[in-house]
Amino acid sequence: MPVITCIDDLKRLHKARAPKMFYDYAESGSWTEQTFRDNTADFAEIRLRQKVAVDMTNRTTRSTMIGQDVAMPVALAPVGMTGMQHADGEILAAKAAERFGVPFTLSTMSICSIEDVAARTQKPFWFQLYVMRDEDFVRRLIERARAAKCSALVLTLDLQILGQRHKDLKNGLSAPPKLTPSTIADLATRWRWGLGMLGTPRRFFGNIVGHAKGVGDTSSLSSWTAEQFDPQLDWGKVAKLKEMWGGKLILKGILDADDARKAAEVGADAIIVSNHGGRQLDGALSSIRVLPQILDAVGDRVEVHLDSGIRSGQDVLKALALGARGTYIGRAFIYGLGAMGQAGVTKALEVIHKELDLSMALCGERDIHNLGRHNLLIPDGFFTRYS
Ligand code: GLV
Repeated sequence: MPVITCIDDLKRLHKARAPKMFYDYAESGSWTEQTFRDNTADFAEIRLRQKVAVDMTNRTTRSTMIGQDVAMPVALAPVGMTGMQHADGEILAAKAAERFGVPFTLSTMSICSIEDVAARTQKPFWFQLYVMRDEDFVRRLIERARAAKCSALVLTLDLQILGQRHKDLKNGLSAPPKLTPSTIADLATRWRWGLGMLGTPRRFFGNIVGHAKGVGDTSSLSSWTAEQFDPQLDWGKVAKLKEMWGGKLILKGILDADDARKAAEVGADAIIVSNHGGRQLDGALSSIRVLPQILDAVGDRVEVHLDSGIRSGQDVLKALALGARGTYIGRAFIYGLGAMGQAGVTKALEVIHKELDLSMALCGERDIHNLGRHNLLIPDGFFTRYS
């Protein structure tokens, strides 16, 4: 096993081992990718305040997210097509998360189905819902998540229509890949991936194929979203879905203080400050830059989580120190999965945990709950630069 010391090591292996179209899918932002770049660049602008001669024994990163105990407040984000990065990807990532003690969120657009993941894990996972025009299908998805004992519904609000990611169009992204001269040439060099895929029946969108009616091309994320996602989703529908689900509800994709207030009014248990990893509205601000105004808007009426741009334990520390109660990693665990399956996801979690724990120590903190603005050095005008 190569020596892995950081998330970038996993990213390099992922790029070498997964087919180009799936690596590119994960590594894309929309249009110019400005927001995608800002997400990581803005984290890098924030610096840490070192403290010395402070007892650093007995440190803990343990916390809770929506009342559930977590080994560290870092959940695995819902990522479409995870089972194309590595055979049985969602099952492997869910197992790694369960063993580590952090939540796993299964995407509606997963390859392994809700039932597949439930049958192969012991602890409840979270289910991410995309709202479709077909109300019956949405109702059945919710029923399936409930039957699988999912302990939270993560309702995505920022993807009623798919942002354009140039590489996906150029690569002809589909699950499974369509065989063309260029995909065949690419797949020929990814023998590890190919062997895994030959050994699993899970090569299609498992929550959809065989469950949804009247679907055109079930292999294409872009045509599925264009045909099926509900462009009329509004706060009224969010409230109805909350009632239909009846359990813990997390609203994902909030980037604006007014929207955050509406989410709190609807009675969500948590919101995720997110720009979908820079994959939806290019030109939107980074999540970390808008976090304080969202916290100011909702106070403690709703738990505030953050995703988009987290690639290290230091990024987690920065988000928590600014007031987020929880964070999510998407690409950071996908690199691990594409690099070496379940062991790679575990490695990604270990890397992030170690970075978080060591940085806490060097900042003079022993309990993750004590992190705060006092641990950060923030450039003047960072949060007020755009108005
Ligand atoms: C879907 O969630 C995507 O961002 O591709």
